Formats: sequence, structure tokens, C-alpha cells
Amino acid sequence: MDNKVKKIGILTSGGDAPGMNASIRAIVRTAVKNNIEVIGFMRGYEGVINCDYINLDNKSVSEIMQRGGTILLSARCKEMMTDEGKQKAIDVCKKLGLDALVVIGGDGSLTGALHLSRLGIKVVGIPGTIDLDLACSEYTIGFDTAVNTAMEAIDKIRDTSSSHERCCIVEVMGRNAGYIALWCGLINGSEEVLIPERPDVTEEEILAEIEKNRKNGKISNVIILAEGFTNVKAHELAKKVEASTGIETRATILGHLQRGGSPTAVDRMHASMMGYYAVQELLKGNTNKIMIMKDGKYDTIDLEEGLKATRTYDDTMYQIIKTFA
Ligand code: F6P
Repeated sequence: MDNKVKKIGILTSGGDAPGMNASIRAIVRTAVKNNIEVIGFMRGYEGVINCDYINLDNKSVSEIMQRGGTILLSARCKEMMTDEGKQKAIDVCKKLGLDALVVIGGDGSLTGALHLSRLGIKVVGIPGTIDLDLACSEYTIGFDTAVNTAMEAIDKIRDTSSSHERCCIVEVMGRNAGYIALWCGLINGSEEVLIPERPDVTEEEILAEIEKNRKNGKISNVIILAEGFTNVKAHELAKKVEASTGIETRATILGHLQRGGSPTAVDRMHASMMGYYAVQELLKGNTNKIMIMKDGKYDTIDLEEGLKATRTYDDTMYQIIKTFA
């Protein structure tokens, strides 16, 4: 079948997310099957601006699905925020004869794609971020792996906390969203979860809860703290808990551990399917879209509309965590 799309570029941008490689593989394999030439820009938009790219064929994406990170490397490109940077990116895309650009990344990366689309470059976005904070999609690639990694780490912290009858504060990632924290709060059976969506939880309440739990015979107390909860930081809270309750308390910041590792089956699946459908969209002549998950199904949304979308916070998970605690 003849199609108008002859050459596309791919980039991964912003914080890397497990599953990005599975998406790259899916895009390349689907494109090659449809006689589309593919290049991969290195270090996200930096690669576009500096015309730094590699040619991608079926062989170059062999055995990458199971690897964490991104073979195209990633960066947060400040130059892309300037008019000069955007113009350089446009010039490179035109010089290379690209019919479209597939951008895999989170909010900031897809905003970059929106700017390019306004300047005439055809783009398709794939949501890739461990934070799950793109309101237009029920799923973002990397979230499942990050949550599983955090869950395993918190289980281990619980073991040692129980042995020492301690309280522990575990900080998880998520930028301004509390999804990783909420999931871990539920699946790790934590006693408290502090998220940016619930800034109303006070230190007095946290301390009273710990004292109550101890009186009720609980020997450990796990508090999951989302990095976006700004009222108090992990080590500061640990000191306050120890000073106020007399219970030994330790703080752990899981940090970038959560971004690495081999993607889970869920991430490989969504990354592969969204990569496949992204190329199908281009073949149908549809551009300036974001691949999304909606009502459990793969779908697309207009790029601009998708980035404007907002999500109303639903307190149900928090309430369930507190019911179980
Ligand atoms: O967006 C992914 C993420 O890991 C966030 O959870 C975190 O706030 C941020 O990136 C950390 O960014 P960096 O790796 O640049 O320090």
C-alpha cells in the first residue's frame, strides 16, 4: 500500500520511563513494515536542535524491549523553550525531510511537541512518565514499573522497621502528583500517605495517628510521603516524629531507583500498543495527536486539547488507605 509518510523521527524526552524502549521498538517495527524510514534523535529535543540522530532499523531495536531507560537517551532541553531553539528544531526536521515526529515523554515534552506542531511540524505524542500526571490519559508508560519498584523497596523497609519497632517515612517520586504515593499507600498497607492533593493533613494528625497505632499494638508505622507534598520533608518529619512520640524513626528517599529497571509486562504492553497505534495514526493521515488510554481502551486526543485537560482529584483511594490502616 502506498502512503504519504516516508520518513519519521522519534525522540524520548524529559525523565526517562521504563517502557520507552518498547515504544521505540514498536514504532520502528511498524514503520519499517510500512516502508517508512525512521531516525532516532539523541537526548530528546537536544538531538533535534543539534541534528544529532541515528538511523533506526529492525535490527537496531532488537532486544531493547526488556531494557530500562531509553536507547535514544533523554534530556530536559532548555533551548527548546526559546524561539531560536524551536526554529532550529523546525529547520532540522525540514532539512532531514521528516514527514512527522513521534515524541515519547511527559507533560513538558508533549508541550514541546505542541510548539513544533504550531510551527508546521506534524507530531504524534506518546505519554511516557512514571508520574501518571497527564490528565488526558488513564495511563502513562513507566508508572507500573515505578510503582512495582517502589512497592518492593517499601516492603523491605517495612521488614526492618518492624524488627526494630520503628516508624519509617518513605519519600516517593511523582512530581506534583500523588499517584505513586497513593498506590504504594494501598498496596504496601501504609499507615499514612501524604500527597500534594491532600495538603490539609496536619503534623498533629500524623503524630496522633502514630501514637494511637502504637497504643493499639502496631509495632511499625509506614508513612509514604509524595515528593510533591510540600508541608514537610522526609528527614524533617522523621525528627519531629521521634521527638514527639519517642519512637525511633528513619527516613528513606527512594529517588531515581524508581525510574530504572526492566519494564513490567503492563508497561511493555501499553508501550508497544501505543507505539504501534501512533504509526497507524500517521498512516491514516492523522497528526498532532496524543495516544491515550481512555475507558481502558487505546485512543487519541488532539494534542492541544490533551495538554489542557485537567483531572479532578478523587479521594476514594486515600479513604480506603485510611480504612485499612
Ligand atoms: O517526571 C519524572 C520524575 O522522576 C519526577 O517524578 C521527578 O520529580 C523528576 O522526574 C526528577 O527529575 P530529574 O531526574 O531531572 O531529577
